[in-house]
Amino acid sequence: MLGPVILAASRSDRMRRLISAAPVTRQVVDRFIPGETVDDIVPIIKGLTGRGLELTMDVVGEDITTPEQAAAARDAYLALIDRLSDLGLGERVEMSVKLSMFGQALPGGHELALANVRPVVEAAAAIGTTVTLDAEDHTTLDSMFAVHEELRKDFPQTGCVIQAYLFRTEADARRLAAAGSRVRLVKGAYKEPAEVAYQQKQEIDKAYVRVLRTLMEGEGYPMIGSHDPRLISIAQELARRAGRKLDEYEFQMLYGIRSDEHLRLAAEGHRMRVYTAYGTDWYGYFMRRLAEKPANLRFFARSMISK
Ligand code: FDA
Repeated sequence: MLGPVILAASRSDRMRRLISAAPVTRQVVDRFIPGETVDDIVPIIKGLTGRGLELTMDVVGEDITTPEQAAAARDAYLALIDRLSDLGLGERVEMSVKLSMFGQALPGGHELALANVRPVVEAAAAIGTTVTLDAEDHTTLDSMFAVHEELRKDFPQTGCVIQAYLFRTEADARRLAAAGSRVRLVKGAYKEPAEVAYQQKQEIDKAYVRVLRTLMEGEGYPMIGSHDPRLISIAQELARRAGRKLDEYEFQMLYGIRSDEHLRLAAEGHRMRVYTAYGTDWYGYFMRRLAEKPANLRFFARSMISK
């Protein structure tokens, strides 16, 4: 029951101000967003790649209100890519991008987001890596898929995310499971109405398996974005049945969640990519992590009280 309440709070400016200003917040946030600047995050990148993991980087921030902020978001990714190039880590680290941060919700936002994301995709390709477009709430997805299709004309390796909780996703998966495509499947992290999305965990899990089967039996490259042990074993079994080799799909998990499992799957020979977020505008990302596991909220509340 707490999840939807926390997701509603994630859209509230008042809650954002309150939570962002709480002195203890930064320590709790660190578990999920381990840094604010490129300098903070470089040691984390080196540490994870040194342990055999791959990464996908998210410079957090989504509720932007001006084109200048969208341009700043683009520049933040370009600065990160420059640093990865200096470190020689281009091929191990890809980018995850939210188009809202690139201006998608502003007037003329579809074109603005495309114009801002394109240089990031170009810079990523120049260092041997790629970009995946995150999936946000359902109202943004037609635009996201259109940007994805446009980018793929020049950069076919550009990936996108689909969310098992949405009714539309089974059809999206059939369209996307084609040769050369890279698709991350997740359960879905936003508060969506019953007209467009499954609401019960069991239904969402069943939909996840159906969509995963489509991706595994298709010709694209499935990226399994989940920490759910049951879905991870099912993914391994579906990959085996589809005759996929270990380098023909990958697992992805979020930084700070089930870290032992990241290492276990990597040790088994799987490609394991850790979604690692950093930056100052962490509120929306942090609140979604609290909503996924209400025990996180209790821990957060206890830390505030004990201060
Ligand atoms: P589930 O929520 O059932 O969790 C399974 C187990 O994992 C839990 O029992 C718990 O042990 C652990 N766990 C999960 N979340 C936790 C948390 N926050 N804190 C502590 N433990 C936790 N969503 C979206 O809408 N658009 C997107 O673009 C993305 N991108 C994305 C990338 C990657 C790499 C991942 C792994 C996830 C996303 N998501 C996302 C988030 C996704 O939709 C979903 O909300 C979370 O992954 C949680 O769902 P699980 O599949 O992990 O299962």
